[in-house]
Amino acid sequence: MADSPSNPARRRFLTGAATAVGAVGVGFAAVPFLSSFQPSAKAQAAGAPVDVNIGKLSPGQMTTVSWRGKPVYLVHRTDRMLESLPELNDEVQDPDSRVVEQQPPFAANIYRAREEHKRYLVVVGICTHLGCAPTYRPEVAPDDLGDDWKGGFFCPCHGSKFDISGRVYKGVPAPTNLEVPPYVYVSGDIVRVGGTEEEAA
Ligand code: FES
Repeated sequence: MADSPSNPARRRFLTGAATAVGAVGVGFAAVPFLSSFQPSAKAQAAGAPVDVNIGKLSPGQMTTVSWRGKPVYLVHRTDRMLESLPELNDEVQDPDSRVVEQQPPFAANIYRAREEHKRYLVVVGICTHLGCAPTYRPEVAPDDLGDDWKGGFFCPCHGSKFDISGRVYKGVPAPTNLEVPPYVYVSGDIVRVGGTEEEAA
């Protein structure tokens, strides 16, 4: 019979059709797996962690990523920047990061960073006064910021100043240090902003 399953031509057709369905099925199964590495904009806005490769950041350089709809600044600090921090303890409002809401416990120190990776600063780039974006000003003693400026962040809206750890200076409108978000290192060069301790390398 022409349409019998024992017919070799029909058997080849049915085998081909089953293979095609199988391939489509694999295709659909692969999409969610791949997309787990690339959180959608919607997922990121809802709080998905963001991985940042800091391996190519030169000393003194900053990059910005978006996490939960907020700008997050990552800075590769130079030796000079790190050495300036203890010198500024008397000029900033909360030198030892005692206001607990402004950072995770691991960043409650003058570096406001993980001690083992203290060269890299990770802070939310939102001024704690009224929410403007502070400008990164790494230069020393520029004309507009004065001879005592050792590098940090300047908010152009009402003049708040923060040092290179995001510690707010005394006598400016901003009430607290810049916020340090939760983050972990998932490898030597990859910072996961919003990551949990369980995800740490
Ligand atoms: S918003 Fe930054 S100083 Fe007012």
